[in-house]
Amino acid sequence: MADSTTPTPRATSNRSTVPLGDSFKSYIASEWADRAEPLPAPRAQAPYAAARRARISALHEGRRLIVPAGPAKVRSNDTDYPYRPHSAFAHLTGWASDTVPDSVLVLEPRLERRDDGTEPTYDGHDATLYYRHPAGRDSDEFYANPEIGEFWIGPRPSPTHVAADLALATAPLADLDAVLQAADADTLVVRTADRDLTDRIDGIRLLAATVPEPSAHDAADLAWDGDLELARDLSELRLVKDDYEIAELRTAIAATKRGFDDVIADRPAIVEHARGERLVEGTFNRRARAEGNAVGYDTIAAAGPHACILHWTRNDGPVAPGDLILIDAGVEVDSLYTADITRTLPVSGVFGEVQRRVYEAVREAADAAFAIVRPGIRFREVHAEAMRVIATKTAEWGLLPVSAEESLQPEHQYHRRYMVHGTSHHLGLDVHDCAAARRELYLDGIIEPGMVFTIEPGLYFQPDDLTVPDEYRGIGVRIEDNILVTESGAENLSIAIPRTADDVEAWLAR
Ligand code: GLY
Ligand code: MN
Ligand code: MN
Repeated sequence: MADSTTPTPRATSNRSTVPLGDSFKSYIASEWADRAEPLPAPRAQAPYAAARRARISALHEGRRLIVPAGPAKVRSNDTDYPYRPHSAFAHLTGWASDTVPDSVLVLEPRLERRDDGTEPTYDGHDATLYYRHPAGRDSDEFYANPEIGEFWIGPRPSPTHVAADLALATAPLADLDAVLQAADADTLVVRTADRDLTDRIDGIRLLAATVPEPSAHDAADLAWDGDLELARDLSELRLVKDDYEIAELRTAIAATKRGFDDVIADRPAIVEHARGERLVEGTFNRRARAEGNAVGYDTIAAAGPHACILHWTRNDGPVAPGDLILIDAGVEVDSLYTADITRTLPVSGVFGEVQRRVYEAVREAADAAFAIVRPGIRFREVHAEAMRVIATKTAEWGLLPVSAEESLQPEHQYHRRYMVHGTSHHLGLDVHDCAAARRELYLDGIIEPGMVFTIEPGLYFQPDDLTVPDEYRGIGVRIEDNILVTESGAENLSIAIPRTADDVEAWLAR
């Protein structure tokens, strides 16, 4: 049956018509076979998700935690972007590309009452996944609702299926109302997942007498201290990856390698086309859709001087022989873990002299940074090591007004004109993972086994940069690998994707 959570279909009046007569309604509701489905075994991620829930539960004793998957997002009028649940939801449930939109995970604090008359105490949480159950074939949602109707977008899984698949208790989305009505100061929500739901919780908490004042300056964007703590803790929970996550990242990186191989194989058509960058994007993204859920972020296909635009995603330029093309792309697998790889390739197959000089300097910076990675160092030391090489090289080429040593002083940093971005970020469900983690655990944090992050130095000489000789102008190079911290050092998870200038040329010649 459709329940109280069934949204009214949007703007269908000028688009299509569904018969309204009683004969049609009773006829379409009849003569459907039962769908007997064997229940699945729990998916491989289920025990990992349970362990993650136990960890967040221990950090928030006695608090109700609400983690929405989020709604579908409108792209234009009545069409949506492809659906992707919030990463915190996917992390805690294991429900990923197959999530039913608008689902909500609730961790309800478990109160232990004793017979001896002593005060009850909290003991963990009960997890319940609220989601929109399948509508019956006797509901008009079934055939007349283009957003969620089975005739239009396919069936939703049954509660017994979801419960078995995720090893998680489920409840109808309609039952969430009672949970929300009970929201109080000890109810925390992941604010960035579902705006409407968050607004409702804010309203209910505001009415509850014990609610503290919101800490945000902007009353329109209430940010509750507890909610921020929850977001922080969920981010920090992802700093060290478990075995499931590391395996998924390996799968994502292997698929990404095949995407780069596809682009190289397509080179003749790419060079031929007036918008060759679009062909690069299309070819890579085809691999991402074929093997995974999607790309983990918009593919950057930046040929010639476009490579100097750090996040060039318009990708509407030509790919000319003699130029370099910087491709920054990653396959996001069905579990939503993503790779984040950059390779810079000479379109003709061979680097020019200056192109090779710049390329190998960036490679040296990447290798130097990788060489120091081991448990116990600070995250920011990786960046500092890469910058030591970038400063040395740019000084060597006479580009800096001071020596490399002087430029490296915090008050100078002239070399950063040619690389304004950081060298590393954590990687996982989000391409820039763990973004709400505290600085002392991230940038200033100590590296631990199981962390996965990028090393991605670059050099970008803008076409109109008067501080560099003509021959450097318009050259942009980035090399980006995905690094796993091991017990004794580090593993470059993307080492199979050629990265030295010689290996790149050999790759293109194959
Ligand atoms: N692809 C974005 C980044 O490298 O951070
Ligand atoms: Mn990156
Ligand atoms: Mn990248």
